[in-house]
Amino acid sequence: MITFHDLLPAQQSMLADIFAGLSQPQKRIPPKYFYDARGCELFDAICGLPEYYPTRTELAIMRLNARAMADRLGPACALIEIGCGNSEKTRLLLEALRPQIFVPVDIAREQLESSCNALARLLPGMPILALRADFAQPIAVPLTGLGQARRRALYFPGSTIGNFTRPEAAAFLARWAPLLGAGGAALIGVDLRKDDALLNAAYNDAQGVTAEFNLNVLRHINHALGADFDLAAFSHRAYYNGEHGRIEMHLVSLRPQRVTIRGHEFEFCAGETIHTENSCKYGIAEFQDLGRAAGFEPLECWTDERSLFSVHYFSLPQ
Ligand code: AVI
Repeated sequence: MITFHDLLPAQQSMLADIFAGLSQPQKRIPPKYFYDARGCELFDAICGLPEYYPTRTELAIMRLNARAMADRLGPACALIEIGCGNSEKTRLLLEALRPQIFVPVDIAREQLESSCNALARLLPGMPILALRADFAQPIAVPLTGLGQARRRALYFPGSTIGNFTRPEAAAFLARWAPLLGAGGAALIGVDLRKDDALLNAAYNDAQGVTAEFNLNVLRHINHALGADFDLAAFSHRAYYNGEHGRIEMHLVSLRPQRVTIRGHEFEFCAGETIHTENSCKYGIAEFQDLGRAAGFEPLECWTDERSLFSVHYFSLPQ
């Protein structure tokens, strides 16, 4: 019941991305390169940290409202999840919804395969079309594989949409609207604006797991591209940028240094940073406006009692 399509090789080159990012005045590494096998493990550990409230808060919202969400989505839908579908949130939604077909989209191959196998055991009979792809880029979804579904619905949990800048998030939604088609739907988990101290703590945990996750991107590049980043010569920095309404993660060069990647040298001054991640935080109305601008109608929003996190339901006109 599982069909697997690898759309990644045609899409991207890690070397080109890293060269382009490290050649800019503000050096950057795209956050998708966090997620090698070790990065996936570290991210799982982050999700269980006391300071990292988003995962448990979204899960509580799903526990209370998965039935209502499934009712909104209705029967016989093709559910396309951005992310590998291995979370308890996804399981709650799938059990309530029983979609006609489930389409997880993720860049991490092993995670995608193992979560599909686990889901196939849990919900035998549910067809799964797994797509390995970089969801930050346009995706050629094999629409014929979606069969006779009554509607196409996008599920994008975890506030991963926050890892896009606001213009990138708007472009992402605008790209998906035509793929979902008339009457399509979207269910999107979005972290909310809140007290700076709570946000800063969530990305600067006492155990240093987020710091390790951030630094691991350099280990990944060393391993995949034969680079010579010295991990001890960089440190983790994460802070809430109020002007942009986002957490920014950086790696700070602790001394002047040169890093070589496939014969190319990149120079770092002491204190210079590599910007590794944005994690945008939204107001509820602000996110609804973002959806509206892409052609979606905001119909419902579920949140927790402390208004830390939100799950938005949007629909596209018939
Ligand atoms: C995957 N993403 C939504 C996480 C976030 O909160 O932006 C990634 C993360 N980075 C540091 N901690 C968690």
